[in-house]
Amino acid sequence: MESSRLLLISFLPSMWVVAVATAARSPGCATRCGDIDVPYPFGLDPQCAIHDGFQLNCTTVGRTTKLFYFNVEVTKISVQDGKAWLKTWISRQCYNQTTNDMFVENAWINATDTPYVLSADDNKIIVLGCNSMAYMQSDSAIRNRLYVHMRLPTQNGSCSGTAGCCEADLPSGVRYYQGFFNELYNTTKIWRKTPCNYITVMESAAFNFSTTYLTSTAFYDADDSRTPVVMEWGITRQTCEEAKANETAYACVSDHSGCVSSDAGYRCSCSKGFEGNPYIVDGCTDINECLDSFTYPCAGICENTLGNFTCSCPRGRNVINGVCVKSQRSTWMVPVVGASVGLVTLVIGITCAYLVQERRKLHRIKQRYFRRHGGLLLFEEMKSQHHQGAAAFTIFSEEEL
Ligand SMILES: *[C@@H]1O[C@H](CO)[C@@H](O)[C@H](O)[C@H]1NC(C)=O
Ligand SMILES: *[C@@H]1O[C@H](CO)[C@@H](O)[C@H](O)[C@H]1NC(C)=O
Ligand SMILES: *[C@@H]1O[C@H](CO)[C@@H](O)[C@H](O)[C@H]1NC(C)=O
Ligand SMILES: *[C@@H]1O[C@H](CO)[C@@H](O)[C@H](O)[C@H]1NC(C)=O
Ligand SMILES: *[C@@H]1O[C@H](CO)[C@@H](O)[C@H](O)[C@H]1NC(C)=O
Ligand SMILES: *[C@@H]1O[C@H](CO)[C@@H](O)[C@H](O)[C@H]1NC(C)=O
Ligand SMILES: *[C@@H]1O[C@H](CO)[C@@H](O)[C@H](O)[C@H]1NC(C)=O
Ligand SMILES: *[C@@H]1O[C@H](CO)[C@@H](O)[C@H](O)[C@H]1NC(C)=O
Repeated sequence: MESSRLLLISFLPSMWVVAVATAARSPGCATRCGDIDVPYPFGLDPQCAIHDGFQLNCTTVGRTTKLFYFNVEVTKISVQDGKAWLKTWISRQCYNQTTNDMFVENAWINATDTPYVLSADDNKIIVLGCNSMAYMQSDSAIRNRLYVHMRLPTQNGSCSGTAGCCEADLPSGVRYYQGFFNELYNTTKIWRKTPCNYITVMESAAFNFSTTYLTSTAFYDADDSRTPVVMEWGITRQTCEEAKANETAYACVSDHSGCVSSDAGYRCSCSKGFEGNPYIVDGCTDINECLDSFTYPCAGICENTLGNFTCSCPRGRNVINGVCVKSQRSTWMVPVVGASVGLVTLVIGITCAYLVQERRKLHRIKQRYFRRHGGLLLFEEMKSQHHQGAAAFTIFSEEEL
């Protein structure tokens, strides 16, 4: 008979209150845990975090120091993007040679009462295996059913369209999910080649399919049965408008900061031209664009202003193709000025006609290049991939199941 185990993984419910008590960080709070930055609104002590949901634990075991939110490891925090990188567990269904039977571990995560939501943009649902039918149940309206063929894969690299691996998008706003399997699809007949099937939610950028993931336990063992997942976080589950209504609790306290609404609620960001931490008084500081000519190219004289910068050429020079060159018009025109208004009008007229013609020419060249170099090719390819991809997995709605 089948032996089945349930792997208990959860964010324990934290007493997460909607109202934020104080929107200021106490002095003397640690801002690092090992190699990881812990910026406000996060904190390692209750008085250092904006509220319970942002209090993390820094734990040293032996030589390694790790950051935890309850039992979940946190590997990175971004204030700018309002994201946190966590490690979650893999659900698996394996053949056990000792018992000649399948065993199952269903991983689930429950972040219902936390500030975190699974990022729909950064994560994918991934199923690995042969002869597998896996389900992902979440608190959002959609239930995903993913089916992997019994064909052995031949190719490393991308997942979609490859036998042995399939992936699906995550709905937005997911705080709870559970991965599980249909027992009628299992590896009892093929365990010599493929011992296990897996389903997990993970950061798509961190996944490259390898054929060894099917023939061995490499995928499961790579990071101690866990995969990285990207979470979005919000200060409270209010929208920006709701949050702004209570000024004492509003978390965006820095000048030059604004509010962003997301699936997770609201968060803060520094205004354009500013960088830093919008949750701290005076946390957003001006970006000196002139020190970063790669991101903010300027051919002439760069001058930093509050929130912006100006770029100009010395007197008598104009920007042409991104460099300051001696202005031809002014040298030409100096001796002519006053002599003939008619001539000046003519010069301007010619310049305009020339510009219009250049622009038309450029447009024609662009179109030609688009047709010649892959514009249509890419379109055709996308169309055909869409047809192939459609067979790889199907997403059913709850009613259909
Ligand atoms: C998730 O946790 C919340 C409490 O934190 C609980 O009310 C809810 O029932 C849990 N959901 C599931 C599916 O276990
Ligand atoms: C605003 O927030 C403060 C601090 O959390 C709270 O004490 C107060 O009741 C809130 N006011 C309103 C009108 O919700
Ligand atoms: C931090 O650790 C303490 C003591 O082990 C525990 O009681 C608390 O729940 C932990 N908090 C979080 C957010 O992990
Ligand atoms: C297989 O089953 C045996 C006996 O129940 C157990 O001791 C062993 O840990 C199992 N192997 C795996 C990989 O779970
Ligand atoms: C895929 O990559 C693994 C190493 O990561 C290698 O052992 C395996 O042979 C590769 N498979 C194919 C089909 O290239
Ligand atoms: C494996 O699948 C076969 C065929 O679908 C089924 O008869 C069998 O009961 C399954 N075995 C287990 C352990 O679930
Ligand atoms: C996946 O493959 C690409 C290209 O081969 C490589 O640049 C990238 O670092 C790989 N990512 C991981 C997580 O291995
Ligand atoms: C910066 O200056 C440029 C050019 O003057 C202007 O187009 C842009 O809107 C300004 N940006 C900001 C954030 O004020």
